[in-house]
Amino acid sequence: MKYSSLILSSLLAITSIEAASLPVINVTGNAFFNSETGERFYIRGVDYQPGGSSELEDPLADYDVCSRDIPIFKDLGLNTIRVYSVDNSQDHSECMNLLAENDIYLILDVNTPDASISRSDPGCSYNADYLQNIFATMDEFSNYTNTLGYFAGNEVINDEGTLFTAPYVKAVVRDMKKYQSARNQRSIPVGYSAADVASLRLELAEYLNCGNDSEARIDMLGVNDYSWCGDSSFTVSGYKEKVELYADFNIPIFLSEFGCNEVVSSRPFTEIKSIYSTSMSGVFSGGLVYEYSEEGSNYGLVNISSDGTTITKLQDYYNLQSEYNSTSDPSGDGGYSTSYTYSDCPTDWNFTITVPDTPSDAETYFKNGAGEGTGFDADTEQACDDDAYYISTTGVSSTTKTKTSSKSSASSASSALSSGSSASSSYVASSTTSASSSSSAGGAALTSYGLTSLFAMIAAGFFM
Ligand SMILES: *[C@@H]1O[C@H](CO)[C@@H](O)[C@H](O)[C@H]1NC(C)=O
Ligand SMILES: *[C@@H]1O[C@H](CO)[C@@H](O)[C@H](O)[C@H]1NC(C)=O
Ligand SMILES: *[C@@H]1O[C@H](CO)[C@@H](O)[C@H](O)[C@H]1NC(C)=O
Ligand SMILES: *[C@@H]1O[C@H](CO)[C@@H](O)[C@H](O)[C@H]1NC(C)=O
Ligand SMILES: *[C@@H]1O[C@H](CO)[C@@H](O)[C@H](O)[C@H]1NC(C)=O
Ligand SMILES: *[C@@H]1O[C@H](CO)[C@@H](O)[C@H](O)[C@H]1NC(C)=O
Repeated sequence: MKYSSLILSSLLAITSIEAASLPVINVTGNAFFNSETGERFYIRGVDYQPGGSSELEDPLADYDVCSRDIPIFKDLGLNTIRVYSVDNSQDHSECMNLLAENDIYLILDVNTPDASISRSDPGCSYNADYLQNIFATMDEFSNYTNTLGYFAGNEVINDEGTLFTAPYVKAVVRDMKKYQSARNQRSIPVGYSAADVASLRLELAEYLNCGNDSEARIDMLGVNDYSWCGDSSFTVSGYKEKVELYADFNIPIFLSEFGCNEVVSSRPFTEIKSIYSTSMSGVFSGGLVYEYSEEGSNYGLVNISSDGTTITKLQDYYNLQSEYNSTSDPSGDGGYSTSYTYSDCPTDWNFTITVPDTPSDAETYFKNGAGEGTGFDADTEQACDDDAYYISTTGVSSTTKTKTSSKSSASSASSALSSGSSASSSYVASSTTSASSSSSAGGAALTSYGLTSLFAMIAAGFFM
């Protein structure tokens, strides 16, 4: 070994020993707390998926990418980011450490497009290979003290017809928590990020948080909510109604996507004043703005140049920064509560609500660990029904994604990458209560299943 590389490797060793670490965020009652200072923790975040849902990219495995963006998160005033998909075969230490150095936590969706619960064939997609993949992701992220929480699923249920997949979501939550305890990992909260379907809001949240088997209950709930449009208000937006709806939940609830882009050309983000006020803090613990980078649907705070080297801050960025800067967290404990208990399970659903057993082939992972992750190559739904009916992704970006995917698939779009579309689908769903019901960017909100099926057919090579 050359002397210079010896020095270099010693330096690297020192760096990794002295890796930054942030105080763990714990859950008490329906709120998050900083485990060192004892202060209440409110998420001030953005959803981070540069490349959008069109290009599968792990921004936390690429130091050039994360080191370009983390200083901007800091400048914006953030303490949390949400990432929708990571490659569990890669190393994430550099980016996780840089986040920690900048006092930023991570909420991580553990699914990838080809390793997730399928809406069309959930029983098949809930298999040992799938669990191996998400457990390997947990192995990769569990040691970082700035991993704030995991989402076991994102918008898997997006209408009445997909509600029957909910027992599988609970099964995944249970298995993740069981894996943490079996592998002696820190109890990082496991949650679910819900699409805003007005008719299901309460009953789905209650189901995910019901039953005396604590392992099969979510530890936190993210709600994707695009109901505050333009310069709205606590009452007009429907926020007030949601505070009342979730008032007696015993777990932290936050907005896992927000930032309606209708009504005005640049978003004023006046909802920040409401979210971090005592009118909401008894029930909500902050939220994440959709989304960091502009990906063609007018939800971006910044433009990233095509060569990836230049970031241009857009007006939305400055508006959000100014709102954050002029809004402090509620004082004291914000009126959180420890006096509630878990929910009752529904009794009137038209399918069995029993949580499925863990596939027997997966039992070995609890004992022996999951082993190496296979990253974005993992494809755990090959044997499942590729019914295109339930694809919910919309617009140009998802078409590109489906085309470039090794497998055309309904199921692949089901959870991990539905985020791009979730903005639109949830917007449609919430329009019954929101101030406006105009269509979402790029007409995405108008996309019907007919159109998405068409995308799937294109992707499947029907017209080639
Ligand atoms: C809170 O966090 C600390 C530090 O990780 C941990 O030791 C403790 O067990 C946690 N408390 C609860 C109630 O989870
Ligand atoms: C996490 O910590 C455990 C216990 O120290 C260690 O065995 C494991 O290799 C670590 N995982 C990673 C991905 O660093
Ligand atoms: C249950 O009923 C709803 C309509 O209320 C329907 O959309 C859904 O498909 C039904 N689910 C099952 C599994 O039958
Ligand atoms: C949990 O609920 C099941 C069924 O409702 C019941 O049989 C069991 O005794 C309960 N366990 C506890 C610890 O309450
Ligand atoms: C951001 O990029 C879009 C094209 O993707 C362009 O139309 C717009 O002018 C850019 N905005 C700024 C401020 O650079
Ligand atoms: C607002 O910005 C000023 C100047 O940069 C800074 O000192 C202050 O801490 C910021 N306040 C908040 C609440 O972020």
